[in-house]
Amino acid sequence: MFTTDRLFLRGFEDGDADKLIALHNDAKVQRFITNEPIVPRPAKYKEDLKKWAEACTLYLTLILRETGEFVGQCSITVQEPKNRDGFFGIALHPKFWGKGYGTEASKFVVGYAFEALGVQRVSLGVFEGNKVAILLYKRLGFKEEGRKRRCNWVEGHWEDMIHMGILDDEWAAMHRDEDRLLQSSLAAM
Ligand SMILES: CC(C)(COP(=O)(O)OP(=O)(O)OC[C@H]1O[C@@H](n2cnc3c(N)ncnc32)[C@H](O)[C@@H]1OP(=O)(O)O)[C@@H](O)C(=O)NCCC(=O)NCCS
Repeated sequence: MFTTDRLFLRGFEDGDADKLIALHNDAKVQRFITNEPIVPRPAKYKEDLKKWAEACTLYLTLILRETGEFVGQCSITVQEPKNRDGFFGIALHPKFWGKGYGTEASKFVVGYAFEALGVQRVSLGVFEGNKVAILLYKRLGFKEEGRKRRCNWVEGHWEDMIHMGILDDEWAAMHRDEDRLLQSSLAAM
């Protein structure tokens, strides 16, 4: 299990499937994580979420250290090892939005991907309407690398998918002064 200032970041546990489906079934969250129709997911979708979590290179459930509450999840998936390209994803329960937890978890996980998973770039996709996420990624040093135009019909308008990425040397230059890994710990559960 990893720790940051306010979060535990641990691997997938069976009970997480119920929390994850509730997270994905929140329309405010679903709106930002898929370009499929925003619909309630059936109970069997839990199996898909479990398979997805197990297929990630690094899947982490985020737990609030103070209360033990489920905050959300984040992940890194390295699809083609030779390219050392980790795809980053994150989703938090709306109750925890705007309190800096997204920044705290993303910074740890992206840093861990560079320093421990050995990726040379981290990639992500974000819908253009997701202003909070775009701001967060830019603050961490991600750059826009391209757009898939009008790929999502949502809330009565079209949105582009913005592809963003950061390279290992860019991350090191931005974050070399931070003693991030020392603030975290890796311990067996
Ligand atoms: C995107 C997400 C991970 C961000 O996490 P978060 O904990 O809410 O974000 P943080 O609080 O760490 O930081 C958000 C920043 O945006 C700012 N912000 C908050 N509300 C804002 C708004 N309405 N418009 C613009 N900026 C806003 C915050 O002030 C903060 O900036 P600051 O640190 O300079 O003050 C989270 O909102 C989430 O899970 N959303 C739903 C799923 C999702 O969008 N996932 C990402 C898909 S690419």
